[in-house]
Amino acid sequence: MNIEHGIPSAIEAVAKFQFADYVEDNPTLLSLYHKAKRNQWDAHMDIDWTYELNEDNPLAMPDGTIAIYGSSTWDKMSEKNRADLRNHVQGWNISQILHGEQGALFCASRIAQSEPDMVIKYCNAVQVMDEARHIEVYSRLMSKMKNSYPISGALYKLLEQIMGESRHDFASLGMQILIEGLALTFFKNVQAYSNDPFVKNMQALVLRDEARHFATGQVALSGFYPQLMEHERREREEFVVEACHTLREHLFGEDIWTPMGIPRSECRELIRASQINQSMQRSVFRHLVPAVSGIGLMGREATRFFDNIGVLSYAAA
Ligand SMILES: [Fe+2]
Ligand SMILES: [Fe+2]
Repeated sequence: MNIEHGIPSAIEAVAKFQFADYVEDNPTLLSLYHKAKRNQWDAHMDIDWTYELNEDNPLAMPDGTIAIYGSSTWDKMSEKNRADLRNHVQGWNISQILHGEQGALFCASRIAQSEPDMVIKYCNAVQVMDEARHIEVYSRLMSKMKNSYPISGALYKLLEQIMGESRHDFASLGMQILIEGLALTFFKNVQAYSNDPFVKNMQALVLRDEARHFATGQVALSGFYPQLMEHERREREEFVVEACHTLREHLFGEDIWTPMGIPRSECRELIRASQINQSMQRSVFRHLVPAVSGIGLMGREATRFFDNIGVLSYAAA
């Protein structure tokens, strides 16, 4: 997908200019903010960028994490083709993370601008710095990899929807809960399965920030959604269900097959039936479902959707 135009944005800055509005009265968010300041790190100084990645497997991930691993298509591949595939899959994933980090930068800055609560502004101001650092990390990592990809159609669609939304909580719901929930799963997988200490260390640093962003979104929204009218909560719930459909589409990662010279239709079927892809989806929903439930959006529609895709039991986690 070739995106050259700007993403339309509809949001206004919220300020009240009374001293009382500056009073910090949310201890949980305030402690997340203090922790965020204490845990700042420097991507330039704290990571050894002279390190060389393995050229056949840059993230040093086991082949069992590739969706078509073990299929007849995989079995027919030469070792060179498998190395190409690892480079494409990992290049696609890191490209999407990089684009997602840019989206997170936009969202954190707009939450700092549009959110009425001062402590939430604080938290998001620090998150802007975190996301700038993450863009720095993943763009430097990309420069060491062979294949880069534009943003996936599904991720762009979701980002455009979030940015075009004038209701201020959608940036937090769409980015901090849904997209960052998805990213957390990817980061945890890389940290758990990579055999490369450089990759593991880099991932651990980013993961610490991302876990805080995900928690900030949950605390902020769980304080906000109970104040809404029933029909307003239902609109958020509809957005969650639609966004989860879009994120599942994104997870199929179908952009890599044409550059690999494998027919897209052949891989589409393989990936949809793939146990590895299904297990990745379950890991994503293990994060998302309890978060959606915790912020008070597990109404009838969300319950039905999560039940249909077999992940409702995670709500109790
Ligand atoms: Fe990030
Ligand atoms: Fe983040």
